[in-house]
Amino acid sequence: MQLSITRRTDLKQIPAFDSTLGFGRNFTDHMFLMEWKGEWKNPRIVPHGTLELDPAAMCFHYGQEIFEGMKVFRNAAGRIQLFRSIDNFRRMNVSAKRMVMPPMDADFLNEVLKTFVDIERKWVPDRKGYSLYIRPTMISTEAVLGVRPSEEYLFFMIACPVASFFPEQEGQLKAVKIFVSTDYVRAAPGGTGSAKTAGNYAASLSAQVQARAAGCQQVMWLDALERKYVEEVGTMNIFAVMDGKLVTSPLTGTILAGITRDSVIQISRHMEIPVEEKRFTIDELIGGIQSGTVTEVFGSGTAAIISPVNRIVFKGEEYIVGNDGVGGVSEKIYNKLLGIQYGTEVDPFDWVLEV
Ligand code: COI
Repeated sequence: MQLSITRRTDLKQIPAFDSTLGFGRNFTDHMFLMEWKGEWKNPRIVPHGTLELDPAAMCFHYGQEIFEGMKVFRNAAGRIQLFRSIDNFRRMNVSAKRMVMPPMDADFLNEVLKTFVDIERKWVPDRKGYSLYIRPTMISTEAVLGVRPSEEYLFFMIACPVASFFPEQEGQLKAVKIFVSTDYVRAAPGGTGSAKTAGNYAASLSAQVQARAAGCQQVMWLDALERKYVEEVGTMNIFAVMDGKLVTSPLTGTILAGITRDSVIQISRHMEIPVEEKRFTIDELIGGIQSGTVTEVFGSGTAAIISPVNRIVFKGEEYIVGNDGVGGVSEKIYNKLLGIQYGTEVDPFDWVLEV
């Protein structure tokens, strides 16, 4: 496929890369689009703008939609680097399969991303803690109200410079307080928990509202069947340091296969921190926090990277994790991961791709 490029002439003003930037509010000058009807066609980079869709387009009614999120960094030498973006495009194909949507050529999209980022170079922040966030998305566009897989799709990719995901963090590693949801679940076996699809996020909002009302920043999700195994935290994968070992929930089908989760696991092994993927219950976690065997808890995701948890609210009680701040293991892994992303540490994993 031949990529066409239409550059905008009325370039936008680039916002200040400071704490006023927020997350996902200022979009770059361009976007990438392509359509599917039997095959992908017309791949193009055009000025960022609105989409025109029929109100009957299936995505508005039945949520056949998938998305991804990845970050682009400017390293200490001023060079721009993608981080594991090919893995995001590959994961998007896994989501596409689950949602009966057409597969994409991950290598082609990674090449498109390089061109797109090259065009938007000036939008990549030159400040640690800041990055250019990329949002690839696929929606069903066939204008039919029948409930079946759409026969037409639109893929688009937009970009925005971002500060920390949690405004409280302001580019620093700061702990957050989380609320264990006992009323709601995120994903059930056989459902769509391992796909990055809009409905999972929509369904999580009521618990998020409850968490906020309880003075917490995020929700801790338990499994849907027994309501006892810890599965995820907010939009992130969950890690706990138990008896000196890093433990995370296994990918059982209800959990998203986080690329940051995988990076944390690989970095830990590289640093000789023992890691285990195993199920653990909320009672084990709370018991361990009380007895001192659980010393750290953190979430991992592209947006927040590492998000230490210092307090957990469960059934009306508040439990303080470890030192009530940022734990040593979380900090060590965070520093290594950020070091690779910002090019101050060598990348032994081949994750970084310079543009
Ligand atoms: C992430 O942790 O990267 C996410 O999935 C958050 C995103 C939906 C903003």
